[in-house]
Amino acid sequence: MGRLPPLPDGAPTMPNASVDAPADGRAPSGALPRASSHALPPSTLLAGKKALVVGVANEDSIATGCARAFRLCGADVALTYQNEKARPHVEPVAQAIGAEMLLPLDVTQPAQLDALFDTLATRWGQLDLLVHSIAFAPKADLQSGLLQSSAEGFAMAMDISCHSFLRLARRAVPLMREGGTLFAMSYLGANKVVPNYNLMGPVKAALEASCRYLAYELGPRGIRVHAISPGPIATRAASGLKEFDVLLAHAANEAPLQQAIDTMDVGLTCAHLASPLARHLTGATLYVDGGLNIMA
Ligand SMILES: NC(=O)c1ccc[n+]([C@@H]2O[C@H](COP(=O)([O-])OP(=O)(O)OC[C@H]3O[C@@H](n4cnc5c(N)ncnc54)[C@H](O)[C@@H]3O)[C@@H](O)[C@H]2O)c1
Repeated sequence: MGRLPPLPDGAPTMPNASVDAPADGRAPSGALPRASSHALPPSTLLAGKKALVVGVANEDSIATGCARAFRLCGADVALTYQNEKARPHVEPVAQAIGAEMLLPLDVTQPAQLDALFDTLATRWGQLDLLVHSIAFAPKADLQSGLLQSSAEGFAMAMDISCHSFLRLARRAVPLMREGGTLFAMSYLGANKVVPNYNLMGPVKAALEASCRYLAYELGPRGIRVHAISPGPIATRAASGLKEFDVLLAHAANEAPLQQAIDTMDVGLTCAHLASPLARHLTGATLYVDGGLNIMA
C-alpha cells in the first residue's frame, strides 16, 4: 500500500488523522470525527406532529432516543410504561423530554390498548407517528437455541414482539387521518444468522415482513411503515442475550464507520423518515448500524 499523496497547500487537515492508510485498504481512522447527535440544534421538522412511543424502559432504551429526537424536531410525544414496576424508571424520562402523556400499556392486555387509544383520541384527536420498540421472549426459550424452543415460548415471543405491532397499528390507523408513519424495531438477526439471537431471528423476520405487508395495505391512506434495524446498543433487553458484549465490540470494530451507534442515532433516523423529506419511502428495513450489515 503506497503513501497517500500529499495534501495541497492550505487544504484542511483532520485532527488525529493518520497519514498512512491501514493495510485493509480503508481510509485512515479518525477521518470522520464523531458529531454528537445530542448537540444538534432544535428543528421544526416535525412541528405539530403527535407521536406515540411504546417501549421506554429507562434512559438507555431505543424508544427513549426516538422520543428525544421527535421532541428535538418539534413533535408532541406520548410515552407508555409496561407496569407499576417499570413506572418509576419511565417517569424521569417522560419529565426530562417533556412528554405530554405517560400512560400504562402492557400489550398483552387488550383493555389497556383500548384505553390508551381512547385517551389519545380524546386528548389529541390525531396521531402522526407510532414507534413499536418492544420485544420479549422467555429467557429459557431465548437461550436454549431455536431447536429447543417451546411452542409456548415461541408463541409468546411472536405475540409480544410482532403481533402487538399489528394490534397497535390497527388502533392507530383511524387516528392517522392525514397519513402517518409506523416504525417497528428489528435486528440483523432477522436476515442473517447471529449466534445467540436464536428464536428472535424468526420473530424479527416476521416483524419485517409484517412491515412490508402493512406498507402495502396502508399506502393508499398515506401511511408509511418501516422496520428499523439498529446495530447493537447496550440496553436492558439486550442484556438478556448471551455474549452481547461480543456483538457490541464486533460492531464497533467491523462496521465501515467504525463507531458504535447510540439510541439518538436511531431516533434521528426515525425523525427523518417520518418527515416530508422521506415522503416516498415505505416498506423498507432501514439499517442504523454504521454499515455493519453490508459486511461478509
Ligand atoms: N439493544 C439492541 O442492541 C437492539 C438492536 C436491534 C433491535 N433492538 C430492538 O429494539 C427494541 C427495544 O429494545 P431495547 O434494546 O431498547 O431494550 P429495552 O429493554 O430498553 O426496551 C424493551 C421494551 O419492551 C417492553 N416490553 C416488553 N414486554 C412488553 C409488554 N408485554 N408490553 C409492553 N411493553 C413491553 C419493555 O417494557 C421495554 O420498555 C426491541 O424490539 C429490540 O429487539 C434492540
